[in-house]
Amino acid sequence: MKRCPCDCQVTSETRKTNEVRIQNDMSIATPTQPKAPPEPEVRIGGLLAEFTSAADVVAAAKQLRTAGYRNLEVHSPHAIHGIDKVLGAKRPPLPWAAIAGGVIGLAGGLWMAWWMNAVDYPLIISGKPMFSFLPSLPVAFELAILLAAFAVFGGTIALGGLPRPANRLFRVPSFARATNDRFFIAVEQSDEAFGSGETKHLLYDAGSVGVESIPIVDQRESRLPRPFVLTAIVLSVLALIPPVLIAKARYTTSTTPRLSFISDMDHQPKFKAQTTNSLFADGRSMRPQVAGTIAQGDLREDSAFYRGIRKESGNTENVADVDIADGTFLISVPSEENTPPAASSAAAGTPDWVTKFPVEVDEKLIRRGKQRYEIYCATCHGIGGDGDGLVTLRALELEQGTWVRPTSLHAEPIRKQPVGQLYNTIANGVRKMPGYAAQIPVKDRWAIVSYVKALQKTRTATAKDVPSDVLPNMRKLK
Ligand code: HEC
Repeated sequence: MKRCPCDCQVTSETRKTNEVRIQNDMSIATPTQPKAPPEPEVRIGGLLAEFTSAADVVAAAKQLRTAGYRNLEVHSPHAIHGIDKVLGAKRPPLPWAAIAGGVIGLAGGLWMAWWMNAVDYPLIISGKPMFSFLPSLPVAFELAILLAAFAVFGGTIALGGLPRPANRLFRVPSFARATNDRFFIAVEQSDEAFGSGETKHLLYDAGSVGVESIPIVDQRESRLPRPFVLTAIVLSVLALIPPVLIAKARYTTSTTPRLSFISDMDHQPKFKAQTTNSLFADGRSMRPQVAGTIAQGDLREDSAFYRGIRKESGNTENVADVDIADGTFLISVPSEENTPPAASSAAAGTPDWVTKFPVEVDEKLIRRGKQRYEIYCATCHGIGGDGDGLVTLRALELEQGTWVRPTSLHAEPIRKQPVGQLYNTIANGVRKMPGYAAQIPVKDRWAIVSYVKALQKTRTATAKDVPSDVLPNMRKLK
């Protein structure tokens, strides 16, 4: 004979016969005991049964459902699939909230894109239509996701009746394991089928390892404290005041001057960018640069150094003028009258190139020049300057026909070029060769010129160019 594990001493056989009595009398009498005076009825909020496995709790829930219980709650440390079906739980409206949020977001996003682009601020961009569906989709999609997420977040809080700072189940100490390794069924006292003794037996029969009463707790305990709620209401009402004041100030007029904390910043006589201005003939408030304006630090008076052209000649105008910081080139053609009778410039329009370096040439400069040459020039002109750099070799191999072979730096006309002209070629390029003003600073250009000159010397030098103390140590070439 199996004894009931609860303290009622009822055996499973006797219980059936006692059932009627139990229902009438909450304090369960045992058949062996003489009928005790009925205990005062202890009112409880319900029963909480503990189980050791998910399978047990599901089976027990099924059993209770079959016995007619409707007001059950199962607590488990992890999700139990199918338990909602067993409990007969209705599908929460949360998916619908998500769908609604998504649809509102999608429609709102599309509407926003259309209204901003086609109505409020229409801009023609490359002749594209003001509104079209596909490019508006990313924004609409993001908004759909966002609003769906908000709907689920808010819906979860609202449907769960949160925030709920207390729950009477927390009063049952064993319930703490609901987040760890135990499973619980809570039967509400309000359930129609509830009868504390009978329900207790049923729960033990269903495999519970312990059934405890849920205390009745003052309902107010599970609500937020009153001062808390009041403070929140007052603060949110107060928070509405500034926006209301701002809105009022925006849409009404007043004779009192505006509040301004830093008045001379708020009110300054100025023209705003991209606005019209009737003061100027062209009606624009943005003024173009005055011709000939030079930014601070950009005055390049030393013509020889910056342009490779002698200044005294006055004939400096017909050279591409030169890497102004922003890379604009001002090419001006010399007019008849300002072309001086300069002796050194043979034809009119040939600049008066400097023939002497405007910087001090020493070994350090030439070494720097070699290094820069090998970075910037050797790719096309070759390490030796013969016009056989790797880029050139590759281009010739491709035979595409558009490649102009870089001039050999040892060619007679190049050898005879004044240093100013070489400098100018580096800075501004020549015909097919691009200028390197943007990459190579002025001083480095001169360094490269000095190296090119040294490179050229290697092909033309004779024994006379070699210092007499070095000469005896040199090997004779055949
Ligand atoms: C992208 C390839 C390329 C690079 C890099 C290059 N050049 Fe050239 N260079 C050429 C080509 C091509 C020509 C011939 C242009 C023409 O005749 O149209 C040329 C011509 C020249 C000439 C002859 C100019 C004249 O008056 O005929 C010199 C001098 C020269 N380059 C020096 C240099 C120096 C110094 C560097 C390094 C700062 C350099 N090049 C970098 C392709 C290059």
